[in-house]
Amino acid sequence: MQEYPKTRMRRSRRWEFSRRLLRETTLTVDDLIYPIFVTEGEQVSEPILAMPGINRLSIDLVVQETKLLRELGIPAVALFPVVPKALKSRQASEAYNHQGLMQRAIRILKTEVPEVGVITDVALDPFTADGQDGLTRDGYVVNDETVQVLCKQALSHAEAGADMVAPSDMMDGRIGKIREILEANGYTETMILAYSAKYASAFYGPFREAVGSLQNLGSADKKTYQMDPANADEALAEVRLDIQEGADMVMIKPALPYLDIIRRVKDRFEIPLFAYQVSGEYALLKSATGQGYLSEQDCVMESLYAIKRAGADAILTYYAKTVAMWLADKDE
Ligand code: PBG
Repeated sequence: MQEYPKTRMRRSRRWEFSRRLLRETTLTVDDLIYPIFVTEGEQVSEPILAMPGINRLSIDLVVQETKLLRELGIPAVALFPVVPKALKSRQASEAYNHQGLMQRAIRILKTEVPEVGVITDVALDPFTADGQDGLTRDGYVVNDETVQVLCKQALSHAEAGADMVAPSDMMDGRIGKIREILEANGYTETMILAYSAKYASAFYGPFREAVGSLQNLGSADKKTYQMDPANADEALAEVRLDIQEGADMVMIKPALPYLDIIRRVKDRFEIPLFAYQVSGEYALLKSATGQGYLSEQDCVMESLYAIKRAGADAILTYYAKTVAMWLADKDE
């Protein structure tokens, strides 16, 4: 590159048209996945305290919402169940109940709005009495017994019609075992989205309130299975193992505080990469913009561009619907 003044970097920045031509990263509705909290009942829409604009929805309203998302062009939803207390147990057996909330929601969505991809959470925290992601023995979340339950849960989701199952609990060996059981039962086309690098993050607080596991968890944490936020090389090892075990795509979570991890995984592996802009990231943006301290649209778009620039192919975000509306406005 020539020196100044032959090169003036600002020449191409002067006009909107040249800025558009030179833009290295794009963000479209094709990149967005909308997480939805599903609850029992009919015509139920309950606000979530720390997530203004996001509600727990009964299945009928989930269907209605998903039809709107289809209109907006959003490719997929990620479902999270809010399980009634009475159905939570030590063995978490409600997780694979064929008539369970998730299984019913999946079936109805795939009948009523088949074009929209359905991604399901494979983890036990909505179903365990103590809010942990796995079965607990003597105060420790046990790995291999948990994986057996996860296999039944993933299979029940596939049977209900889930397009993509997403094990989110960081147990060892779960991807391989789930792949095995799906193949053995003829679900050869069901995708597995591995939450490969999920950190033991404090940014999940509002989500735990949303699904009602916050109280159950109490002062306990998930540090014996989720990753230490101080680690990065370990995330690469997690991704490598999940790919070997049969993941179709991997996820990094949370997103904005972990852009370095997204970039390193993207550089190292040839596998589609998703990032999850989690509930706490949403709450941060909502509270600062709600107070008028920051401009919402600009900050949200900048955050999502940053996540894509780091290397994410798609983003799970509670802003998906709003962003799709903003993008549609711009095109008109
Ligand atoms: C639990 C799960 C969590 C999230 C997704 N799946 C919370 C946790 O690990 O405690 C967090 C998502 C968010 O914060 O938006 N399997």
